Amino acid sequence: MRKILVTGGAGYVGSHTVLELIKDNFSVVVLDSLEAGHKEALGEKVTLEVANLSDKNRVLEIFQKHKPEAVIDFAAYLAVGESMDNPIKYFENNVANFVNLLEVMEKSGCKYLIKSSTAAIYGNPTKDSDIPWKESFTESYKPNKSALLEGKWNGAAVAGEDFFQRFIDHYNSIYSGRAELRLSPDEISKLRIPLSIYGLTKAIDEIVMKKYDEMSGIKSVALRYFNVCGADPGGKIGEAKPKPTTLMVLAIYQALGKVLELKIFGTDFPTIDGTGVRDYIHPSDLATGHLTALEYLEENNRSEIINLGTGHGSSVLEVIKAVEVASGKKVQTKNYPRRSGDPSISVADPTLAGQLLNWQAKYTLSDMAETAWKWHSENPDGFLRK
Ligand code: UD1
Repeated sequence: MRKILVTGGAGYVGSHTVLELIKDNFSVVVLDSLEAGHKEALGEKVTLEVANLSDKNRVLEIFQKHKPEAVIDFAAYLAVGESMDNPIKYFENNVANFVNLLEVMEKSGCKYLIKSSTAAIYGNPTKDSDIPWKESFTESYKPNKSALLEGKWNGAAVAGEDFFQRFIDHYNSIYSGRAELRLSPDEISKLRIPLSIYGLTKAIDEIVMKKYDEMSGIKSVALRYFNVCGADPGGKIGEAKPKPTTLMVLAIYQALGKVLELKIFGTDFPTIDGTGVRDYIHPSDLATGHLTALEYLEENNRSEIINLGTGHGSSVLEVIKAVEVASGKKVQTKNYPRRSGDPSISVADPTLAGQLLNWQAKYTLSDMAETAWKWHSENPDGFLRK
């Protein structure tokens, strides 16, 4: 496979993957709405088609014009908080537009798909031995009630099973004429695991991929990313979101004086230093993960769901320390109570990625802090005024 179409390729993880594809001499077409992506993140060897996946006819034209052999799909919304206040917006982009993409792939005979998924699918651990997360957790755990936290449906506060039922009813009403997309009781049970609508939309996507495999032979790999941070060591691309919410970027923003203080959400977790522990992973490692997944599909023609994480947890205080070392500045912090929905610890078991893809992360937390610091300090306004 040499010709790849990358949706959302002008975004953060997308642009790092495109860079790796170009280095490996793939021919790359990026399909991006540029709502959140930046065309400046793409080199001159990349063909950009500005389009939205909601416009099925236009997307079909793009597929007919370029005839990609495989798709890597990054096009999705990813803000956990926003997904709770605006679930329909997340349904439309993360689920309905994804179904559009699969329809177009089916029509144009494109048989391979690599898809961004997320560790948010795992929700909260049910017991200590659930950590590190294994892919099989979502196969074996069958809750009767949804773990969804409080959010809004048509402006009214809802949580748990109520929130969940409204979302599933919405899915059913949109796809009432599509028996092949109907969710079985077993699938519905699996969808009750995530805490957020964001995680739930990605869990639905994984189920829809399985249906398209059985129905149309589209083979796919869903890659469940853990906490992404860092920037391309070459310094040309990095994360450029208007309102960052993730820990390392906020710590760097504090070191740059862009925010007054970094809030530490919770110092009483049962972890090494009382702060939350996460598996941080560099986008260039994710990028090579996507390339190895393409190879896997070509060689094995088999669908898989695979974690991409380092298998190593770092605490909030360790992330702050890494930023201080990389920047040479002190990060001003203030302790706050735990943030709603934060598990104490989330770390990947990356064994399957090693076995199936022969992939393993190589960047350390210090590498992530150094590359992210270089990017943000040299480009304080992202891709603007370079
Ligand atoms: C969440 C999502 C993940 C998503 C990511 C980025 C879940 C379970 N995970 O990860 O899927 O990809 O957001 O949108 O929903 N922290 C602070 N102060 C801050 C910010 C964060 O102390 O100002 C702490 C958090 O409490 C947590 C850690 O830093 O312990 C990482 O938080 P964050 O970067 O927001 O990512 P997650 O919540 O782990």
